[in-house]
Amino acid sequence: MGRLDNKIAIITGAAGGQGKVEARLFAQQGARVIATDLNEALLTTAVAEINAELGVDAVIGIKHNIALESDWVDVVAKAHELFGRIDILINNAAIPGKTRDEVWDVDTEETSRILNVNILGSMLGIKAVMPGMKANGRGSIVNISSAAGLVGGISGGSVAYSATKGALRAITKEVALGVARSGVRVNTVYPGLIKTPIMEAFSQEVTDAVLAKIPAGFAADPIEIAYGVLYLASDESRFVTGTDLIIDGGYTAQ
Ligand SMILES: NC(=O)c1ccc[n+]([C@@H]2O[C@H](COP(=O)([O-])OP(=O)(O)OC[C@H]3O[C@@H](n4cnc5c(N)ncnc54)[C@H](O)[C@@H]3O)[C@@H](O)[C@H]2O)c1
Repeated sequence: MGRLDNKIAIITGAAGGQGKVEARLFAQQGARVIATDLNEALLTTAVAEINAELGVDAVIGIKHNIALESDWVDVVAKAHELFGRIDILINNAAIPGKTRDEVWDVDTEETSRILNVNILGSMLGIKAVMPGMKANGRGSIVNISSAAGLVGGISGGSVAYSATKGALRAITKEVALGVARSGVRVNTVYPGLIKTPIMEAFSQEVTDAVLAKIPAGFAADPIEIAYGVLYLASDESRFVTGTDLIIDGGYTAQ
């Protein structure tokens, strides 16, 4: 028996990195997964790879820009057409900021792009799935933040990226309280450094400096974050809402 048997899950940013590992784990645990990403070519390859590995067509790929409300409407309509409902939304897709030494050096265009994808994109996802989840009387939404949303010194000087990750904390709590009686739960996961392509946005110097400060002494494999996301997505966490799950090798305990 899988921990997500009969669940229908949408995972954004699932073409690579953390999202792809979550898509594979969720499918292994019995979920039907709608994996979405802006990068269609990479997504197609990832979906084919996971389905071939598992020997079942458990994952469906849909091209999706999370910053566009019309794309969310299409993804949710497709999920309802195929499966009749959505049980789980993992707001995982995000873009990093540029590494910079002068943290006060705000680039308006870059900042508005990051805010639009990382904050608005996740809010639009919540908006799109919520009516169906409320009508079904159940649902689990997991917002993927970052240790950068809790403490400074980990985002390579990108105030915009950190701001978006901090915002997800507030969004989670506000929405979780607003819908608590409906059976829909909303939680946040805060990963520390994970070995994924997003790390390429940061210089080796920044990565080494963060790595040196991780009490556990290593960067996480994506699966080590995915296990936490799985718990919050599953019914095992039925009494957990509006909370913070930090998975960072002790980084924010300092
Ligand atoms: N890697 C780390 O060290 C780390 C640490 C803390 C938090 N996180 C968070 O974990 C999550 C996953 O990150 P990752 O490391 O796997 O990154 P990644 O860059 O490997 O994957 C992110 C995916 O999101 C997609 N994406 C970007 N913009 C999009 C858009 N507008 N619409 C749809 N898809 C879009 C990308 O194409 C990519 O496939 C992110 O929210 C990230 O902020 C990562």
